[in-house]
Amino acid sequence: MQVIIFDNADDVGEYAADMISRGVELGEIKVLGIATGSSPQPIYNSLVKKRTPQLGSISAFALDEYVGLPYSHPESYHAVVQREVTGPLGLDPSRVHVPDGAAQDIVRACADYERDIAAAGGIDLQILGIGASGHIGFNEPTSSLASRTRIKTLTDATRADNARFFDSVDEVPRHCITQGLGTIMEAKNILLIAQGKGKAHAIAQAIEGPLTSMCPASLLQMHPRVTVVLDPEAASELRLADYYRRVFEDRPTEQ
Ligand code: F6R
Repeated sequence: MQVIIFDNADDVGEYAADMISRGVELGEIKVLGIATGSSPQPIYNSLVKKRTPQLGSISAFALDEYVGLPYSHPESYHAVVQREVTGPLGLDPSRVHVPDGAAQDIVRACADYERDIAAAGGIDLQILGIGASGHIGFNEPTSSLASRTRIKTLTDATRADNARFFDSVDEVPRHCITQGLGTIMEAKNILLIAQGKGKAHAIAQAIEGPLTSMCPASLLQMHPRVTVVLDPEAASELRLADYYRRVFEDRPTEQ
């Protein structure tokens, strides 16, 4: 796992966007896994400025979607992805996939989503944020470490965190469809981004804590190609922060 700590949130977004833009230009990223929420916003903002025309021909798969919100609801991830990612980045809407939280047959919709990811050749780079509980996607604590795309119940803490996007916490759906931890682990590369003090504990648990389903992001310790980009606040509870800074400054060309 490569842990990179930048001086501010803008540099975090810029570095991550550079990585994606370069991968897309080189043809190494043909399928991008996208996250919603606040964390990846600086990546998308920086990517817009880079104007990478090849983005128009990649496929993208979102991590998750609320169950029970119509696509037309401004906070459904269908709407959020269209507004914050597909449109600004110039992705081809027909190649952008979001789990179908409005499906009549949720079990089938989840199986179809897994099939669509596989049919696209798998995810080349998955962008992840992290919840204060250590969730990735909406895999809440105690999620099976081998889980696949499925319906999950959101914790009260996650619903309270996401209430900022709704008029009240009561409007935040109770269920979601999320890629499973097993699904996420099949991405060829993973890029986890976190900013702010509120993420510091989860980040420390994910990177330096034991591998446990109580912190689902700790499973990333088992993935061979993970890059974590942090601002100083999100890195503030890492015991080996100075080491990670030195590793990055002195990185051998082979890395
Ligand atoms: C979003 C997602 C979640 C968020 C996490 C952090 O698609 O899968 O895991 O990344 O809840 O959310 P923010 O970035 O809003 O703090």
